[in-house]
Amino acid sequence: MTNDASPDTFTRTLIMADPSHCVVRELPWSPGGKEIPFLAGPGALARVQFYLAPLQPDRLILVADPAVQRLIPDLPFPATILSPPECEAKKCLMWLDQAAARILEDGATRRCVVISFGGGLACNMAGMLAATLFRGVGLIHLPTTLLAMHDTVTSLKQAVNVGGHKNMLGVYHAPHAIICDTDLLRTLPAAHVQGALIEIIKNGLILGEPFVHKVSGLCMRPAERYLDIVEAGVAAKQSLMADDPYEKSSAIVFEYGHTVGHAIEATCRGSLNHGQCIYWGMLVAGRIARQLGLMPAIVHVKHDALLQLAGPVSMPSTPMNTADVLGAVMFDNKRGHLPAKADHVAMVLLHDIGKPVCTSSLPLVHIPLPLLTDALRTLPFVT
Ligand SMILES: NC(=O)c1ccc[n+]([C@@H]2O[C@H](COP(=O)([O-])OP(=O)(O)OC[C@H]3O[C@@H](n4cnc5c(N)ncnc54)[C@H](O)[C@@H]3O)[C@@H](O)[C@H]2O)c1
Repeated sequence: MTNDASPDTFTRTLIMADPSHCVVRELPWSPGGKEIPFLAGPGALARVQFYLAPLQPDRLILVADPAVQRLIPDLPFPATILSPPECEAKKCLMWLDQAAARILEDGATRRCVVISFGGGLACNMAGMLAATLFRGVGLIHLPTTLLAMHDTVTSLKQAVNVGGHKNMLGVYHAPHAIICDTDLLRTLPAAHVQGALIEIIKNGLILGEPFVHKVSGLCMRPAERYLDIVEAGVAAKQSLMADDPYEKSSAIVFEYGHTVGHAIEATCRGSLNHGQCIYWGMLVAGRIARQLGLMPAIVHVKHDALLQLAGPVSMPSTPMNTADVLGAVMFDNKRGHLPAKADHVAMVLLHDIGKPVCTSSLPLVHIPLPLLTDALRTLPFVT
């Protein structure tokens, strides 16, 4: 679908962009020391034109989730609107190939700018497209889920799944700006708010104070605190990504719960969202750390109590086979950070809240597979 905007649209956009119309915070965001404008707050979307105009695009490529396509802001540029993959199982290279063919037919050049407008799926696919089209074009993120606002777009990692395995082919690509309009979250289903809060709880668990102190407040009546949640999530990412923008050393700790969480996500056939899968992954990681004597019992109690702040988390719609989950774990994309060790898998574990277990200065530790298997079987849905 091509959408050629009229001059009237341009005028309307500028009026809407009057800063007096909305309360928007500019959040400090500089992965690797490179400042990226990050705006968040109600009505923030009206400011997109300010960040777009300097890029002088000749066409916009919007990767826009159907749930929010009716809310795409009017912008004075020809636009191609693409829907992201319908589900995690379709987050693959085939989508990228079809999207590229379509936008080339629409006349895309190196001066086009890719804009994400949706959840993490739309943001990741827009990121992959922007990074690879003509070996790199402009990117602006307009995330519309709480998870995408504080977590997906605060990573330079863009990726697609391969053969059902999470995030196997990817690149790093930084956006020119990130604009989070918290008004868009009014329609977000509760399960997706919970998924986003789980990643906030994870930040508290891995970083300790001052982040952990804020977590319980943020989890109470979250709909009244969306902007604070986004701000807390960005600050947490900034604390480590300022020095580790590619998440290859200290920032690997953000993968807490993700080794098992991603395996559950790859196996649950879409019945749980990303954050919910990470909840189960963190529960398993805590049990393993306790089992290995790395995490004292009193810390384990506190760890699980913090996880409970997310409220009751759904289980996958059908029981999972241990072998299937373990099979998916073996494709964890953190493989190789530590030298391979037979019959072991490297995971992020904690000694204490805010104290990861390190091997050769990386926040990873080898776990024997039999121990992981036993811990997986403690989950109520793994047989
Ligand atoms: N690159 C990274 O570091 C990183 C970090 C976290 C997550 N991710 C990725 O992000 C993806 C998950 O993101 P997600 O949870 O946002 O999923 P998603 O993009 O699938 O969105 C979740 C659901 O919300 C709907 N939706 C979007 N905006 C809405 C709105 N404003 N109101 C109502 N419904 C709305 C969508 O249609 C969808 O059904 C996964 O692919 C995950 O791997 C990547």
